Amino acid sequence: MSTPEKQPDVGSVIARIERKWALLMSAIVLVLVAIVVFTGLHQAMMPPSRVETVQPETLNRSGEFIESNLGSVSEPDGSVTVRIVAQQYSFTPQCILVPANVPVTFRATSADAIHGMLITGTNINSMIEPGYVSTFHTTFKQPAEHLMPCHEFCGTGHQGMWAHVKVIDKQAFDELERRSGGRRLNCAR
Ligand code: CUA
Repeated sequence: MSTPEKQPDVGSVIARIERKWALLMSAIVLVLVAIVVFTGLHQAMMPPSRVETVQPETLNRSGEFIESNLGSVSEPDGSVTVRIVAQQYSFTPQCILVPANVPVTFRATSADAIHGMLITGTNINSMIEPGYVSTFHTTFKQPAEHLMPCHEFCGTGHQGMWAHVKVIDKQAFDELERRSGGRRLNCAR
């Protein structure tokens, strides 16, 4: 005959289990905070500074965002700048052309309501507000086509507001630019 095992005290069992769960929860919270810090600092997924202002009423008459200046252009330092205007319910240009493996700066503003712009497969995701210039930088690793939908509800035509981003070889881009006679590039048909 064996003696019955001593039953552990129920209170201490519960305390042990609760401690385990508390440790697990703390670990999950720490991992989430670490992810936020890592993506914020390392991948530069920070809200674009909206400190640059622009007159939305006169976008099409003067300044950086006149129609002939919209699209892609090479800068003297070898990077490419893309200027975009969002309006109900389209982007100008509708098809954005950029080279692969070249630093690209997007400068976008709105002519009317608050719009959004995200480029699928990248970390570009920003609001575009009238009166402000949204600026963000990226480098596309390889030729590809990306969709660029408006992701802020901007009116009845919102769901139909989107553009394309076409990434092509740098040589092809340079060749198109040579033949463009100084005009800004895009791939709108
Ligand atoms: Cu523009 Cu939604």
